[in-house]
Amino acid sequence: MTSKKDTSSIQDNMTKENIADKGQANSLWGGRFGAGPAQIMEKINASIDFDKILYAQDIRGSKAHCHMLIAQGIISAADGDKILAGLDQVKDEIEAGNFTYDAKLEDIHMHVESRLTEIIGDAAGRLHTARSRNDQVATDFKLWTRDAMDQLDGALKGLQLALVAKAQQHADVILPGFTHLQSAQPVTFGHHLLAYFEMFTRDRDRLRDARERLNECPLGAAALAGTSFPIDRHQTSAALDFRAPTANSLDSVSDRDFALEFLSGAAISAIHISRLAEEIVIWSSAQFNFIDLSDKFTTGSSIMPQKRNPDAAELCRAKAGRIIGALNSLLIVMKGLPLAYSKDMQEDKEATFDAANAFALIIAAMTGMIDDMTVNENAMKSSTENGFITATDLADWLVRVLDMPFRNAHHVTGSLVALAEKKGCDLDGLTLAEMQEVDAKITEDVFSVLDVESSVASRTSFGGTAPDQVRRQVKAAKARIK
Ligand code: ARG
Repeated sequence: MTSKKDTSSIQDNMTKENIADKGQANSLWGGRFGAGPAQIMEKINASIDFDKILYAQDIRGSKAHCHMLIAQGIISAADGDKILAGLDQVKDEIEAGNFTYDAKLEDIHMHVESRLTEIIGDAAGRLHTARSRNDQVATDFKLWTRDAMDQLDGALKGLQLALVAKAQQHADVILPGFTHLQSAQPVTFGHHLLAYFEMFTRDRDRLRDARERLNECPLGAAALAGTSFPIDRHQTSAALDFRAPTANSLDSVSDRDFALEFLSGAAISAIHISRLAEEIVIWSSAQFNFIDLSDKFTTGSSIMPQKRNPDAAELCRAKAGRIIGALNSLLIVMKGLPLAYSKDMQEDKEATFDAANAFALIIAAMTGMIDDMTVNENAMKSSTENGFITATDLADWLVRVLDMPFRNAHHVTGSLVALAEKKGCDLDGLTLAEMQEVDAKITEDVFSVLDVESSVASRTSFGGTAPDQVRRQVKAAKARIK
């Protein structure tokens, strides 16, 4: 979480002073208030601890709004120019770390306006004409989310490039393919990695699709009903690179679908990263020994000197939980809210920011691990040598060469597996005579399909695991990466 709370703040929240008022009413909205809020009210109400990261979006939105107010003759050019210069100064101060934050000023919007007032005086009060914090925060948050989507899309592209490069290097490497984590059929490692390439392709599509829907500008919806001032919402929308202004002012300030879609896309993608992370944990165990991770992505144990733990992979797996949690949390915040804005919606940001950070972190860590891993070809190959992994190839041979219906072939192969199991060998350890006892028509040729190289080489169907197919898929994947 972006806000830091130590244990003493649990105590702080329970003191008597918390419920006493704090003197002065709020200077920006306190006209009808006789006194200030209770301390605990100020604390629960403030979002500045986490929404301060929206400062750039807030100032960009305010400048677009100000330009439009000038162009429409709603404020004078003289006031407008002061406001624009003042906003630039506020931005510089924030970026230089010269800015004081105060929970009394609630959020980033009031901080910027209040500092603007200190710098340029009364003219600052004209900026909020034909605008409300409700359309302002929706605009800022959309701008931030759109930016996050673009950056994360670039990060996912990096992960895809790492996967394709690794897949190309290991197009011929054979390992067991599993179903139920039981040896099923041999596959190539390049093929296995390309499966994740496909997932991340869909994830990027989902985020881009959500970006399209997000890309309408709420600014000018004002509090909820629009405004009586002659504003030009098309101008502000275009200035902020939105496709169009939102069509309904009530919806504009009430909609958080864009954050939900972002979180849902992030959660699905995090699940993919988590599944790959789980495979890395399994593959790097001594029992599997399929891959090694270097010192860069592992840690040692403080008590067991022999250990090399895949912590980065484990944390990728766990952080997916945070992202799923953020999605759940916002779904639950939103589900009972009447139109239009309710303060509940302020709880949209912390979870979304946290999820975006966690998502960026696990994409980067996963990209690093894919680059870093070395592949133990021998261990992968020898792991295919038990579990009768070419049984399907044998059944297919019976169909193709002896013209057996597949169901019968399945049955005959089952008997041969049972025989091999009894004898304590793999399928190619049976003699031709032993096989012919099960079915007299079997010939020597059957042995040509029982080794794993022949098995993978034969799976040339579109999208299949044969090394030649994988090389073709790598080429196609490279062309598809945008
Ligand atoms: N900090 C608020 C938020 O994040 C800004 C909007 C406040 N609007 C209001 N009517 N109090 O949602």
